[in-house]
Amino acid sequence: MPAARDLTGTVVVITGATAGIGRAAARQLVAKGAKVALGGRRQERLDELVAELGADNAVGVVMDVRRPADNARLVAAAMEKWGRVDSVVPNAGIGMYGGILDHTDDELTEMMDTNYAGTVWTVRAALPAMLESGGGDVVIVSSVAGFRGGEDEAVYAGTKHAQVGLAGSLDRELRAKGVRVTLICPAGTATEFAVGAGRTEDDPRFAEWLTADDVAHAIVTTLEQPRSLRTAIWTLWSMGQQS
Ligand SMILES: NC(=O)c1ccc[n+]([C@@H]2O[C@H](COP(=O)([O-])OP(=O)(O)OC[C@H]3O[C@@H](n4cnc5c(N)ncnc54)[C@H](OP(=O)(O)O)[C@@H]3O)[C@@H](O)[C@H]2O)c1
Repeated sequence: MPAARDLTGTVVVITGATAGIGRAAARQLVAKGAKVALGGRRQERLDELVAELGADNAVGVVMDVRRPADNARLVAAAMEKWGRVDSVVPNAGIGMYGGILDHTDDELTEMMDTNYAGTVWTVRAALPAMLESGGGDVVIVSSVAGFRGGEDEAVYAGTKHAQVGLAGSLDRELRAKGVRVTLICPAGTATEFAVGAGRTEDDPRFAEWLTADDVAHAIVTTLEQPRSLRTAIWTLWSMGQQS
């Protein structure tokens, strides 16, 4: 049986690391011995997480995924500290629910730019360093909304479909260069994202939802897979959620 890869000393760049799935992935990866470069807009959250994980294991960069230069700074911080980048997890995302006429132009632009363009900029920033390190993993956090339309989420689902198209094409482009591309597609996950979408923290439905740690576990397991195989798409539901 092929052994799980040892992640000790591997360097992983994660966007959207100040909360939810990205923060849980950072914690689980450091517990496995990996080093993490963490991106997000909230300085205080990044400082807290780096303090928790240890400055030898983590570096935080205040950045906005919508700006290519910010993504470059995040990758540069990892290179400066550890001299390599093995994997990148474009995870930053926002969700706004409602009909297509219910939001302002600026809100919809923000969602499209963050979820789709942000993913493109993060991959483009990390890829040269990953290729220099001999290949690695691109693990894009999309959604089950990347495969089907949903009620009151037309534009959000569109951004998540766009990530699916991006990943499928990147897989064809990069596999021969030693880069695996995986989509992690969770169903509803109890994070600030879900609360922000009009629900409250005590919403009883959250008890049945995935947790940030569930999704982070899928990210870590993807990175641990032997390099002889790859997971193209990993959809996740909790046992209580209808697929
Ligand atoms: N929760 C769900 O139900 C669910 C289901 C399926 C898929 N997903 C996907 O999972 C991913 C993570 O979501 P989550 O549930 O963990 O949400 P979350 O707890 O709200 O975390 C979102 C993260 O994205 C960051 N972020 C947002 N806009 C950013 C920007 N412009 N630049 C840099 N960072 C930015 C936030 O950090 P700052 O605010 O500090 O910048 C935060 O760290 C998203 O791509 C989402 O679409 C979520």
